[in-house]
Amino acid sequence: MTGTTQNEAFDAVDIIRVKRDRGTLTPAQIDWTIDAYTRGVIADEQMAALNMAILLNGMDRAEIARWTAAMIASGERMDFSSLRRPDGGVKATTDKHSTGGVGDKITLPLAPLVAVFGVAVPQLSGRGLGHTGGTLDKLEAIPGWRAALSNDEMMAQLQDVGAVICAAGAGLAPADKKLYALRDVTGTVEAIPLIASSIMSKKIAEGTGSLVLDVKVGSGAFMKDLAQARELAQTMVALGKDAGVNTVALLTNMDTPLGLTAGNAIEVEESVEVLSGGGPRDVVELTVRLAQEMLVCAGVHDADPAAALKDGRAMDVWNRMIEAQGGDPRATLPVAKESETIYATTSGVVAELDALSVGVAAWRLGAGRARKEDVVQAGAGVRLHAKPGDRISAGDPLMTLLTDTPERFARATEVLSGAVVIDQAGSVAAQPLILDRIA
Ligand code: URA
Repeated sequence: MTGTTQNEAFDAVDIIRVKRDRGTLTPAQIDWTIDAYTRGVIADEQMAALNMAILLNGMDRAEIARWTAAMIASGERMDFSSLRRPDGGVKATTDKHSTGGVGDKITLPLAPLVAVFGVAVPQLSGRGLGHTGGTLDKLEAIPGWRAALSNDEMMAQLQDVGAVICAAGAGLAPADKKLYALRDVTGTVEAIPLIASSIMSKKIAEGTGSLVLDVKVGSGAFMKDLAQARELAQTMVALGKDAGVNTVALLTNMDTPLGLTAGNAIEVEESVEVLSGGGPRDVVELTVRLAQEMLVCAGVHDADPAAALKDGRAMDVWNRMIEAQGGDPRATLPVAKESETIYATTSGVVAELDALSVGVAAWRLGAGRARKEDVVQAGAGVRLHAKPGDRISAGDPLMTLLTDTPERFARATEVLSGAVVIDQAGSVAAQPLILDRIA
C-alpha cells in the first residue's frame, strides 16, 4: 500500500493528511518524515503533496523548529572552535545570508571586509538558479578560482586569511538539498516555514557563531511585500537564537537591482571597485551596514568598515582570499563577445527600474541557469547606465546587454519592455534601501 512500509514508525499518507486538515505534526512525526524522505522511503510525490499542504496551511513555530533540527541532523555539523586569535583565544565567527536578489554581489566585498577586524567569515555559498545570481558563479569568472574546498582547506584559510567563500559540502543538511530540488519543480519554494528551515538548517549546521540575514523585499525577491518578509525574518531570527546563533535580520529593498551590474564577471568587477574605495552608493551602503551588524554580533563594537574599504585593508584580504583558492585577483576578467544597448526614448527622471525584469534578462543572456547542469557564461549580463532618481535625456543609454550568443538578445529585450519607467515631471522620491531591522 502506498506510503506504508513495513517496520516504519509512521505512514506518509497519514502525515500528509495531518497537514492537509490543518493539524499539527508531533516531533516524532517530523523526525521520521525528514529521515524517511532522505532514505527514499517517502516518495517524491508524497513529499510534494506534504510541501503543498505546508505552503497552504502553514506550520507553527514548534513544528518549524523541529523540522529545522531534523534537517540539521540529516548531515554533518561543522565546528570552528579550534580557530585561534593571536592572543590564543577562540576566534569569533560570523556569516551573512541573503535570501537572493538581482545584482546582489554584497558577499564578495563583505567577507574580506569583516575579516579585516579579526573575525572569521565562513561563507558557504550557492549557485544561481532562476533569475537570482549565485555567488559561486560570480567568483568562478576569476581565472583559476576554485569553489570546492575540503573542510581542512577551509579551516586553514579561515585561520590564515580570515575569510572563505566556497561551496557547501554534500554532507551539510543533505535533506535540504533533496527537498529544495523538489520544491523548485513543484511550486512550493515560497512557503515561509520551508524557506526559513531550509536556510537556517544550513547556517546552523555550518557552525557560525553569529549570523546576519539580508531578507530581500520587492519584485526581484521571493518575498514581494514587507509583511511577508517581516514574518520570514522573525521566524529565521527565532530559529537562530534558539540554536544559540546570535542572529539579526535586515529587510532590504529589492524592487530595483543592487548597483549597476547583474551578471558574473561584471559583478566581480563592481565588487573590486567597492574594495578600491569606489563603486555604486547602494552597494557601498549595504556592504558597510551589513559589516557593522556582523561585527557587533561577533562582539566587535569599535570597527570602522567604511574606512577599511577606503584605505585598502579590505582589498588586501580580498587578494589573499582569491589567491588562497587558486584565483588570480589581478587577471583580466572575461568579456562578453557581443553587446547591445537600449536607449531612453523620453527625458525625465528614472522612477522605476524593475529588478525582476533585469534579473530575468541577465539570465536569458546566459548569466544564469535554467537547470542545475547548465553552464553559465562568465561575461553575460546587464550593465545599467541609470538608476531610479537619475535624470536622463531622450537618447541616453539606459542599459547594455552582454552575451556570447547574440541570438539571446531578442528574448532578453522582450522581458525588459516596460522595466524602466521615466517620470517626465521629474519628481521622484528616493526609496530607502534598508527597510527594517529584526533582532
Ligand atoms: N534559499 C534557500 O537556501 N532555501 C530556500 O528555501 C530559499 C532560498
